Amino acid sequence: MIDKQAILDAFHFRHACKEFDPNRKIPVEDFEFILETGRLSPSSFGYEPWRFVVIQDPALREKLLPVTWGAKKQLPTCSHYVAILARKGGMRYDGAHVQHMMHDIYKFSPERVAGRSAVYQKFQESDFKLLENERALFDWNCKQAYIALGNMMTAAAMIGVDSCPVEGYDQDEEEAVLVEAGVFDPKEWGLAVMVAFGYRIHPQSTKVRQPMADIVKWLE
Ligand SMILES: Cc1cc2nc3c(=O)[nH]c(=O)nc-3n(C[C@H](O)[C@H](O)[C@H](O)COP(=O)(O)O)c2cc1C
Repeated sequence: MIDKQAILDAFHFRHACKEFDPNRKIPVEDFEFILETGRLSPSSFGYEPWRFVVIQDPALREKLLPVTWGAKKQLPTCSHYVAILARKGGMRYDGAHVQHMMHDIYKFSPERVAGRSAVYQKFQESDFKLLENERALFDWNCKQAYIALGNMMTAAAMIGVDSCPVEGYDQDEEEAVLVEAGVFDPKEWGLAVMVAFGYRIHPQSTKVRQPMADIVKWLE
């Protein structure tokens, strides 16, 4: 087991890093470790509706800069910049990606596929009402992507790597730059969130949080 204090230390170490040391690059094996924690993240029904696009191309980062108000200093200075995509297509109960996951990844028996499909159809149609419009389903896929985001940032902090989640952009403008650069097909994918990784150049400011009593309610 990992020492609890060591884990809490990592949570205190993690902060939204505003500017990175441009001269420090995350070693390959450390960045692969961070990506692996994204890959191993849980997702509803286990369908992993995400993709991690690591944007190292300086020209593309430069194109993103004018439309990314939330990462003015992070984009040019971070070691690794990741666009986390969420699926738009293929995620209905009868969709291609869902079928691929059940048949090719999980290798479920035909009976298991039938049972799961029925549960997933009800979940999408009535439990969570995800099929009322395309946005509902995309947002649900984004929720899964944010779990991977959190895990990657925490894992990074545990090995001394700083990060900053980035939602500071106009979604249409940001996606247009990525689509123009051929990063994804907008019929199949949308941008969930972005995240910069690297090493801080300034000390972090004091961590501010609400007291536990304000956010936890015990019913006994
Ligand atoms: C989903 C998400 C998006 C965020 N977007 C930005 C951003 O675009 N730019 C930025 O500097 N910080 C961004 N933040 C950082 C938050 O402002 C920060 O996490 C919060 O103020 C708490 O501070 P801490 O992370 O340093 O503890 C974002 C955080 C989250 C979780």
